Amino acid sequence: MKKLNIGLIGYGFMGRAHSNAYLKVSRFFDLEYQPVLKAVCARSADKVKAFADNWGWESVETDWRKLVERDDIDAIDIGSPNNTHRDIVLAAAKAGKMILCEKPLAMNAAEGLEMTEAVEKAGVPNMVWFNYRRVPAITLAKQFMDEGRLGRVFHYRAKYLQDWTISPDLPQGGAALWRLDADVAGSGVTGDLLAHSIDTAIWLIGGVDKVCAMTETFIKERALQDDPGTVKSVTIDDACAFLARFKNGALATFESTRYARGRKNQNTFEVNGEFGSLYFDLEDAHQLQYFDHRNDSQSRGWRTILVTDSDHPYMGHWWVPGCVIGYEHTFINALADFLGGLASGVPVRPNFRDALETQYVCDAVLDSAKTETWKTVGA
Ligand SMILES: NC(=O)c1ccc[n+]([C@@H]2O[C@H](COP(=O)([O-])OP(=O)(O)OC[C@H]3O[C@@H](n4cnc5c(N)ncnc54)[C@H](O)[C@@H]3O)[C@@H](O)[C@H]2O)c1
Repeated sequence: MKKLNIGLIGYGFMGRAHSNAYLKVSRFFDLEYQPVLKAVCARSADKVKAFADNWGWESVETDWRKLVERDDIDAIDIGSPNNTHRDIVLAAAKAGKMILCEKPLAMNAAEGLEMTEAVEKAGVPNMVWFNYRRVPAITLAKQFMDEGRLGRVFHYRAKYLQDWTISPDLPQGGAALWRLDADVAGSGVTGDLLAHSIDTAIWLIGGVDKVCAMTETFIKERALQDDPGTVKSVTIDDACAFLARFKNGALATFESTRYARGRKNQNTFEVNGEFGSLYFDLEDAHQLQYFDHRNDSQSRGWRTILVTDSDHPYMGHWWVPGCVIGYEHTFINALADFLGGLASGVPVRPNFRDALETQYVCDAVLDSAKTETWKTVGA
């Protein structure tokens, strides 16, 4: 086995999800490359040390620049907020490191383009953690699309709904709540949630041509988490809905909010094609709903496929049929694909170029909402 020394930046939500993936991947997948938890970096020395001890990271850094400069690091993994991605990527690419970057790729498409060109110029392996592609049921949907089971696609309908920002007492900014500050996040639900929906849509259906969007910020002012006496305008989009036309002529609707009471992380899509339809809901992540109009008319109907058999995507690496896997496994599956790509020489997707395409759609959506007009993606 070849060792691959990882330097992780950030010990929050994604820091934990990625650490878990590095620990597990070689135990469940037969791989030529084995990740080594070499160093983790975050700004607080005490906290990062405690994190390293808990997860088995060999060393710590408090400045990502030092991590990027270390000769004993092969790959930089970015699990820090969106406004840090650009500078880290540019420095890591210059230092010749492989890069695994969290989504959204960047604060906006201009940054994303600069980052994509940097990794391509440096020729370093790169991946963006759009982990939902690695939900076995979504990968199965992709297989069905590629096999032509749905025929010509007419409609795509995506929703990404949460409910955790409804209270006006929730502050903004700082740990975890940086998502409510556009200077750190780039945007609200558009970059945070819809970026996932858009990545999945592009993967399943193809490129997006035009969009027409509306956004809303329901709570206009919030106190700062790190300075509770100061109240500031909320700069992110709390909710976003948009219409889209794909380049192949299919029509789509996308909706996202953090104000859908009772919806915790409902990420759904439905595809309607000439021969059939598909439906997926992350809150029932082990199932794919499939309708095939070519079945005989007496028995025709929606069927629920329990995506746990060993010949379903990724499931041969996990448990026996009927035993479901969870959220954390999507990161392990993604990492296995990244490492597999290094060994096979067939680079993993989604790479930076793929994530840039999603970023162009996000930019067009935000621009459309602002100007109240249709926008051509990337124009
Ligand atoms: N793929 C997914 O499903 C998914 C889910 C959640 C978050 N994300 C993405 O992952 C990234 C991190 O999100 P999170 O939820 O883990 O955030 P978080 O707030 O839980 O953790 C962020 C971490 O980054 C560290 N950090 C902040 N600034 C830093 C700096 N300058 N140098 C070093 N460390 C710094 C913080 O100390 C913290 O440990 C974001 O880009 C986010 O959009 C992706």
